[in-house]
Amino acid sequence: MQYTVLPIASLDDGLLERVALLHQSIMNFLQKLPSRSVELTYTGVAPEAQSNGIGHALLNALVDASCSFGYGSIELSVEIANLKALALFTKLDFAIIRIFREGCYERHGMARRL
Ligand SMILES: CC(C)(COP(=O)(O)OP(=O)(O)OC[C@H]1O[C@@H](n2cnc3c(N)ncnc32)[C@H](O)[C@@H]1OP(=O)(O)O)[C@@H](O)C(=O)NCCC(=O)NCCS
Repeated sequence: MQYTVLPIASLDDGLLERVALLHQSIMNFLQKLPSRSVELTYTGVAPEAQSNGIGHALLNALVDASCSFGYGSIELSVEIANLKALALFTKLDFAIIRIFREGCYERHGMARRL
């Protein structure tokens, strides 16, 4: 475990120690979770660059990076009407795990195990 401690003049040693302990306990908690999951909150490719395989490449890079950091799954959600994104996520082995409504939008919750 490595810490980066920023030198802030107003923090006394005791406070830095408590911050480090809090960080340590958050890390311990995260490591005990049965499957650590990454959430992809949004992905976007500039309109003029779409349909050239960039979205596919970005998601593959996310899958590789998440695997190498030891995550167990990736989760995301996408509007049901967004057929292009849905096709991309499905091609990359994301499965629909739930359907839910967010305001006036219906969305698929999707996940991929790593
Ligand atoms: C969704 C998005 C990220 C995909 O990026 P992209 O670079 O255009 O995607 P790619 O070129 O890698 O295409 C990947 C797949 O999308 C699907 N696809 C591409 N163009 C499509 C179209 N016009 N209609 C339906 N599916 C299409 C295909 O399955 C394609 O795979 P293929 O090339 O093997 O056939 C991009 O379209 C985007 O930014 N859209 C607007 C923002 C958005 O909706 N983001 C997702 C929100 S969760």
